[in-house]
Amino acid sequence: MNSSTPGIEAELHARRAASFGAKAAAYAAHRPDYPEKALAWGLAAASDSPKQVLDLGAGTGKLTGGLLALGLAVTAVEPDAQMLEELTKAYPAVTPLIGTAEKIPLPDESVDAVLVGQAFHWFDLDRAYPEIARVLKPGGVLAALWNHDDESAGWPAEFNKLIKSTASRRWLSDYESLPEHEAFEPFEKATFGHKQPRTAESLVETIATHSHLLVAPEAERAAKLRAAREFLDRNPETASGEFDLPLTTTVFRTRRR
Ligand SMILES: C[S@@+](CC[C@H](N)C(=O)[O-])C[C@H]1O[C@@H](n2cnc3c(N)ncnc32)[C@H](O)[C@@H]1O
Repeated sequence: MNSSTPGIEAELHARRAASFGAKAAAYAAHRPDYPEKALAWGLAAASDSPKQVLDLGAGTGKLTGGLLALGLAVTAVEPDAQMLEELTKAYPAVTPLIGTAEKIPLPDESVDAVLVGQAFHWFDLDRAYPEIARVLKPGGVLAALWNHDDESAGWPAEFNKLIKSTASRRWLSDYESLPEHEAFEPFEKATFGHKQPRTAESLVETIATHSHLLVAPEAERAAKLRAAREFLDRNPETASGEFDLPLTTTVFRTRRR
């Protein structure tokens, strides 16, 4: 998230940030969307009701779909062409642009809101904040969202401990706030309950799209995926047929000064 991250860590960060395209179709098929109430809360920080929205780090369009359902005009910016190809298949009417948070291919003050799903932790914020401030109208909103398993349900905590790899790390959404910047008001944080219908097979497919496993050595990746499947097959809540995976959606929102 910061250009000053030293050596090996910065190299791993860059590899993880660029790892998703190899599994773009699986990502589109298996990753969760975002609950409407979380999107609405994020957008509500804007001075005027948003119409033009940028989905930044849009991937295959998990967040784009929710924004379109709210009747918003969406532009999707994403660095990975394979991810963007999946987005275009799902949402052909959305304008897809190759770009990054550090170099957004949009004019100054052209959008009312910038929303970021599960991607803010990949940005170099020293460069991304001024870029986001540049494309946002004054009073416009920046909101960052993350989905996580709701570990209070018991088995997801055990499951997540099992699939942790040598590349795993702490999540930005665990923090009370995000790093601040003079162009933005202080962040507010809220969490929302969410869930996703799953089978053991689809949950294993999902974790195979997590960047820490995409960049893990092949033997470690295979062992983790095998252990995940074995756990789900013996755990009574997940052993047969469809089950709901309990999720928490964390949202941070701020307004451009
Ligand atoms: C975990 S995926 C999230 C995709 C989508 N927003 C979602 O909610 O499913 C992270 C995405 O961030 C993109 N990404 C990585 N570094 C980025 C950067 N510096 N600027 C913009 N997007 C970036 C990746 O290519 C990937 O598509």
